[in-house]
Amino acid sequence: MYHEPVMLNEVLSLAENHPHQKIFDGTLGLGGYSEAFLEKFPSSEILGIDRDNEAVKFSLERLAKYSARFSARQQNFGNISEIPGLNEFDVFVFDLGVSNMQLTLPERGFSFGIDGPLDMRMNPDDDSVPTAAEILRDSDAESLAEIFRLYGEERYSKQIASAVKRSPVPITTTSQLVELIRRTLPQPVQRKMGTHPARRIFQALRISVNNETGELESLLKALHDNAGSSLVIFVSYHSLEDRLIKHSFRQWQYDGLGKILTKHPLIPSQEEIVKNYKARSAKLRAFSMSVD
Ligand SMILES: C[S@@+](CC[C@H](N)C(=O)[O-])C[C@H]1O[C@@H](n2cnc3c(N)ncnc32)[C@H](O)[C@@H]1O
Repeated sequence: MYHEPVMLNEVLSLAENHPHQKIFDGTLGLGGYSEAFLEKFPSSEILGIDRDNEAVKFSLERLAKYSARFSARQQNFGNISEIPGLNEFDVFVFDLGVSNMQLTLPERGFSFGIDGPLDMRMNPDDDSVPTAAEILRDSDAESLAEIFRLYGEERYSKQIASAVKRSPVPITTTSQLVELIRRTLPQPVQRKMGTHPARRIFQALRISVNNETGELESLLKALHDNAGSSLVIFVSYHSLEDRLIKHSFRQWQYDGLGKILTKHPLIPSQEEIVKNYKARSAKLRAFSMSVD
């Protein structure tokens, strides 16, 4: 199990130029960033959180040799203000989206390339959250089309939503959904897409199942109120998320909380994209909460 950390050099050099005794890794995943912090900053202490308990267990085991300086717990960053002593952290880092572990475990249902149940919950222990299959079953065609349009920027949202609703059998697996999308999109469109025809719909469902933009909004508000004089770093992969972060940072600066360090977002080098294609849509933004 491996997840290549995205824009790690950029994250480390920003942290290096700021006090970095206490670091908060808000999207622990497989612990790629945390491991690099622990190695590069030998006197630092890291707290990692992830809403996915599998990720927390995996990282605690993988980074066990650092247990004196590394701890981790299951927590949704949307509820970050429940964590005591937030204003004592020097650095907060959030690398949004999904990890390779989530993408490659068939039972999690995140991947259009692997057959599995259409689940997509980042916290599969939370039965109050509807799965992707339940969203397809319970939403009407109009709401589904809106999810596909808003979170997937899919031009054929209405056609795909109505195909889901017309399907004679419920769509409950990843391969059923891929098959339906392939049957619905015109062949010339699929040929010109330059990406998997189901990619946008899978992304849209994942964002909707996990209320990803809602959690990000709560996080940004909590950081505004509690982040002390820290450095805040975001790596995001979707224009909606990047826009929310950009606007919040502008507001924070306007409110006199500190200053934007990235007038334009940093993006991965060509070299990184060649090595790790999944990094291609990453945008990094950073904000320094110090007023001097
Ligand atoms: C791209 S991965 C992080 C990879 C990590 N930086 C590494 O190098 O291994 C994103 C992680 O964020 C987690 N995540 C997404 N939304 C979250 C939320 N609202 N609260 C906490 N964790 C979340 C996902 O479960 C996933 O494990």
